[in-house]
Amino acid sequence: KSLKNFNTFGIDCLAKQYISVTDVSELKTILADPICSNPFVLGGGSNMLLTKDIETLVIHLNLKGIQILSEDEDSVVVEAMAGENWHEFVLYCIEHDYGGLENLSLIPGNVGTSPIQNIGAYGVELKDSFVSCKAVEISSQNEVEFNKAECDFGYRNSIFKQQAKGKFIVTSVVFRLSKKNHIKSISYGAIKDQLSEKNIENPSIKDISEAVIAIRKSKLPDPKELGNSGSFFKNPVVNTETFHAFRSKYPAAPFYELSPTSFKIPAGWLIEQAGFKGKRYGDAGIHKNQALVLVNYGNASGQEIWDLAIHIQEKVKELFGIYIEPEVNVI
Ligand code: EPU
Repeated sequence: KSLKNFNTFGIDCLAKQYISVTDVSELKTILADPICSNPFVLGGGSNMLLTKDIETLVIHLNLKGIQILSEDEDSVVVEAMAGENWHEFVLYCIEHDYGGLENLSLIPGNVGTSPIQNIGAYGVELKDSFVSCKAVEISSQNEVEFNKAECDFGYRNSIFKQQAKGKFIVTSVVFRLSKKNHIKSISYGAIKDQLSEKNIENPSIKDISEAVIAIRKSKLPDPKELGNSGSFFKNPVVNTETFHAFRSKYPAAPFYELSPTSFKIPAGWLIEQAGFKGKRYGDAGIHKNQALVLVNYGNASGQEIWDLAIHIQEKVKELFGIYIEPEVNVI
């Protein structure tokens, strides 16, 4: 089966064996089968670059459903199944005036992959509303629950990218969302600009969601029109020494001080300065509005995109002495 329509980069790789799973007990039965060693779990396919055909069983997680677990006057606890589309879930929350996820509008992918890399945008991260997630352990087929502390969330990071990598399949995620007195995160420059353009002084969560959607649409390509995986690289975090050496050479560079000894530098800026923004090499390229996003103009292979990524990585290292690490899973 071709996986072209199941990964947002639109890479035409094959799954030798493919199965779509719609409930958790079915998932456990499949995992118990000895032919299913080392399965490849496919969610929304929005954070991966396929560079080869998949020889092991591809399990496409299509678990659906949203339910309220509990609620009081101020907040609601909602569980969403892993196969729910992330943005549709965010829209469901906005419709019900449940606050907390509005800044994460229009992020591609599914609910089940949201904790893996602790998705984040415009001043908010998944961990801010996260309560717990349920998962199936691949080796034992046991259902386990991870609370927030156990997930060990960091910038685009969690236990599922570290010790638990490849060992669990997240089946649902539980969020606590506000019903009133929403905590609104609107300090991000681009959000402020959007709201003031529309003369909105006291935005609702719907206003914030709409502002985020407008910003993302202006900068980030729609995977349905142009294959991509959002930010291809993480923003590098460097120590004081590297930072000062960099700053003295590039005083105009944007940065964000995380602590007195660690500084985050936008990879998009580095890539743009290196001259890559908007460039195209065959069907692989760098997006014209956001240098952090690599795109597939049609028939690029995963290997071609990966070769371009390595070329960018080397050039950035050579020019700035800074290593940029991919954010997507390269397979
Ligand atoms: N910049 C450039 N050139 C570019 C892109 C960015 O100079 O081509 C500079 C901008 O001028 C700005 C800075 O880089 O000073 C930051 O840019 P932006 O606000 O667009 O955010 P980002 O750091 O490029 C991160 C996330 C995005 C998220 C935005 C908004 C990562 C790896 N990426 O991008 O996440 O939407 O912030 O919060 O942290 C994703 O993960 O797929 C993703 C899109």
